[in-house]
Amino acid sequence: MDLKITKTRTPKPLPDDSKLGFGQIFTDHMFNMDYNPEQGWHDARIEPYGPIVMDPATMVLHYGQAIFDGLKAYRTGSGNVQLFRPQQNMSRMNRSAQLLCIPEIDEAFALKALKKLIAIEHDWVPRAQETSLYIRPTIVAMDPYLGVRPSHTYRFFIILSPVGAYYPEGFNPVKIWVTDKYVRAVRGGLGEAKTPANYAASLLGAEMAKEAGYTQVLWLDAVEQRYIDEVGTMNIFFVVDGELVTPPLGGSILPGITRDSVLALARLWNLPVSERNIAIDEAVAAHKTGALQEIFGSGTAAVISPVSHLAWKDEVLVVGDGAVGPIAQRFYDTLTDIQYGRVEDPFGWIVPIEKA
Ligand code: COI
Repeated sequence: MDLKITKTRTPKPLPDDSKLGFGQIFTDHMFNMDYNPEQGWHDARIEPYGPIVMDPATMVLHYGQAIFDGLKAYRTGSGNVQLFRPQQNMSRMNRSAQLLCIPEIDEAFALKALKKLIAIEHDWVPRAQETSLYIRPTIVAMDPYLGVRPSHTYRFFIILSPVGAYYPEGFNPVKIWVTDKYVRAVRGGLGEAKTPANYAASLLGAEMAKEAGYTQVLWLDAVEQRYIDEVGTMNIFFVVDGELVTPPLGGSILPGITRDSVLALARLWNLPVSERNIAIDEAVAAHKTGALQEIFGSGTAAVISPVSHLAWKDEVLVVGDGAVGPIAQRFYDTLTDIQYGRVEDPFGWIVPIEKA
């Protein structure tokens, strides 16, 4: 498929790298591609960043048939730009697409288009410490129709945003509120897809957590409200008695690429690892005996997010001594060292991007 490129005539000034928040500033160009049943995916183009005009009846606005993904481009010390495991994001897009009845994309072509877009926007990859260019591929249902069925037409777009830390806390520990009132996702539902519905379902719980003075919610399984699923928008890890434990991908949990990278590193380091269910009661009991050493979240946006406090029922558990634990620190350092090209990448995860 051809990729048509139209450059902007009015480039924006680059932002101040030292003042970046998350997801508020967007680059000069975006990728767009359309789908209809006659032509399949077609009209792939990189063009100036701009609004998508939609009929008010457009299906995505009514029934949420949409998927997205998230990855980052990193600037190395020598000024090069590189992606971290981007093929994984493209294949996750297709797994999400299947669950949302969205036609699959050609992963190799989508990755080629993404690389071209980043090459054009090379200067937008920020240079300040711990900043990056966040990449948001998205597919939305475009039929103007109010009946409930999968749409016949779709738009796939990719936008780019220079970002700093996701949480205002940065890599400092966050306080987490466990809820047995709200649930995020259920097995057999959409939990393992990266789809807006899961984030919409998390909003009220997250607001309640904030009201109670916490940064995010720890989600329990939706059936028994007993087993730990995820934390905020991230996968979760526990260190219990020297063993790294994370819930298995049972259908309600997003198959995180950072999660997978943590597991790969743990195996490389010969850390004992277990993908198994962990009940909230088990975490509380392990805290009582002193076996619960660390808790941390993993995700693209924050990479590793250590948890210092866990509020559950009438108790507030202080994890470790409330500071960043050595295992969370080691994963954070190693992952960011690989991502920013400060150390050799032992896995072939890095994909360099030349400037256009
Ligand atoms: C992540 O990368 O951890 C996320 O899922 C956050 C994103 C929705 C902004």
